[in-house]
Amino acid sequence: MPDNEQRRTQRLARRLEGKVAIITGGGGAMGGAQARLFAAEGAAVCVADNRLATAEQVAGEITGSGGKAIAVDLDVRSAGAWAAAVAQTESELGPIGILCNNAGANFRVGFEEQTEDQFRTIMEIGLTGSFLGIQAVVPSMRRAGGGVILNMGSLASIRPGGGSPGYAAQKMAMVGLTRSAASSFARDGIRCVIISPGHVDTPFIRDDNEHSPNDWSTSINNPENLKRRVDGTPLARLTQPEDVANAFLFAATDDAAMITGSMITVDGGAAI
Ligand SMILES: NC(=O)c1ccc[n+]([C@@H]2O[C@H](COP(=O)([O-])OP(=O)(O)OC[C@H]3O[C@@H](n4cnc5c(N)ncnc54)[C@H](O)[C@@H]3O)[C@@H](O)[C@H]2O)c1
Repeated sequence: MPDNEQRRTQRLARRLEGKVAIITGGGGAMGGAQARLFAAEGAAVCVADNRLATAEQVAGEITGSGGKAIAVDLDVRSAGAWAAAVAQTESELGPIGILCNNAGANFRVGFEEQTEDQFRTIMEIGLTGSFLGIQAVVPSMRRAGGGVILNMGSLASIRPGGGSPGYAAQKMAMVGLTRSAASSFARDGIRCVIISPGHVDTPFIRDDNEHSPNDWSTSINNPENLKRRVDGTPLARLTQPEDVANAFLFAATDDAAMITGSMITVDGGAAI
């Protein structure tokens, strides 16, 4: 494992110099960590989120420290919004070489309790949103001479279990979407990888968000819920957003030049 000095030196290599990345859920915890890391590695970043204020905050941090970023209001469920986001990103930053599909939703109720509306919302944000993003960005990637599509998976992409049926279906479906995109666009020099984190310390499993509601029975603010997740992780801690961003960075660079259609887990062994 590289020590901090090695990591710092690698950073100085600016492995994404000249690349343009569009990052959905960029105002969120994992998307924000990717945006900051990619910008530190030299990428120009479009921070896209339907909560524009959060995207603006992340983009502001990046530009404030000398990086290149814009914030864009994007609801990933809308093909029209995708077309506008891609056009703005291309005109302000250039053709897009990297797409990170982070935006997601969950409603933590079981099969018989989940409403049609909740199921559709999970599928539309996580799955349809990623599909529309790939369709919108691929022509730009061709103009860039190739690209990398990075889809957000989950433990639910490996063993969905008996919780939220929409989340199970959405995260398993991301495996299929990843493989479909990988085979469809390989000859364009476009790779597609799914990265599946375990239990990550973010508002998604801690706070009461519109896209991912939690109460005391589900939140990791409840010590019992936190303990269950840490106990289920052989490396015995929650994953941090930066752990996941490091895997996104690897998959985005030519170090991963022959990796496509595959899954990378970042879960401290939770899926073993
Ligand atoms: N936190 C975990 O334990 C965990 C584990 C595995 C996978 N994930 C996945 O990681 C992804 C990111 O989650 P996070 O943990 O960083 O949580 P987060 O809540 O911090 O980030 C999610 C982001 O998605 C944005 N979003 C929601 N609906 C959107 C829409 N319609 N259009 C555009 N953006 C939208 C939100 O505004 C938010 O910024 C999700 O896909 C989630 O399923 C989370």
